[in-house]
Amino acid sequence: MTTIAIIGLGKMGKGLAKRLAGKTDLIVSTRDLAAATAFAATLPAAHVTVLAQDAAIASADVVVLALPYAAALQAAANPALAGKIVIDISNPVTADFSGLTIGHTTSAAEEIQARAPLAHVVKAYNTIFADLFDLPTSQTASVPVFLAGNDAAAVATVAALVALSGFAVEQTGGLDAARLIEPVGMLNIRFGFGLGRGTAIAPQWLELAA
Ligand SMILES: NC(=O)c1ccc[n+]([C@@H]2O[C@H](COP(=O)([O-])OP(=O)(O)OC[C@H]3O[C@@H](n4cnc5c(N)ncnc54)[C@H](OP(=O)(O)O)[C@@H]3O)[C@@H](O)[C@H]2O)c1
Repeated sequence: MTTIAIIGLGKMGKGLAKRLAGKTDLIVSTRDLAAATAFAATLPAAHVTVLAQDAAIASADVVVLALPYAAALQAAANPALAGKIVIDISNPVTADFSGLTIGHTTSAAEEIQARAPLAHVVKAYNTIFADLFDLPTSQTASVPVFLAGNDAAAVATVAALVALSGFAVEQTGGLDAARLIEPVGMLNIRFGFGLGRGTAIAPQWLELAA
């Protein structure tokens, strides 16, 4: 069974943990281990472990950086990530959520990959608002999680994880596609907050009959 470590137990980390608990070996970690333990007690008990960040990373096959981009960058410098799959879910937004801090010629995912050159970084979940994790799986099963990554085996592992978490997969190619997916995440934030459409929305590509 693949061991997944979720680093960061904010809205996204908790949401993903709730969707994965009981379906795979799960490690949860945050700076406040007492809070992590209290949260873990709310999950189906089997296969959930609470560990500090270094131990969580060392024990996992797949590490989800459910952290703000700047903290994810810091975490990515951990040499224990070598050989592991790292899932970057971040939207590198400005403090006022009005725009992205990087883009065009790089992306958060590629910067994280540069900090963890021996890891296999996969971009995922950045267009999924945390509130979607609380919906019944039947409502999200066709909602796409856009994936980008350079290592085919790592992308396949993350695709299986996405399915396990109750979402669909939309492949976008190599990690440089994160330069495109991150602006889609920003557009989603614009729709959700700036234009008042709320957080029960998600982007999806339509295929129309020719
Ligand atoms: N919220 C969404 O709907 C959404 C959607 C798509 C993508 N994302 C992305 O997902 C990531 C997490 O977002 P979120 O909404 O879950 O954030 P959040 O609710 O603010 O939670 C952030 C988590 O990161 C931890 N953290 C913050 N600074 C840290 C640091 N310097 N070192 C270690 N841990 C740190 C926090 O720990 P403490 O509790 O100890 O402070 C908390 O567990 C972000 O990159 C965001 O762009 C969010």
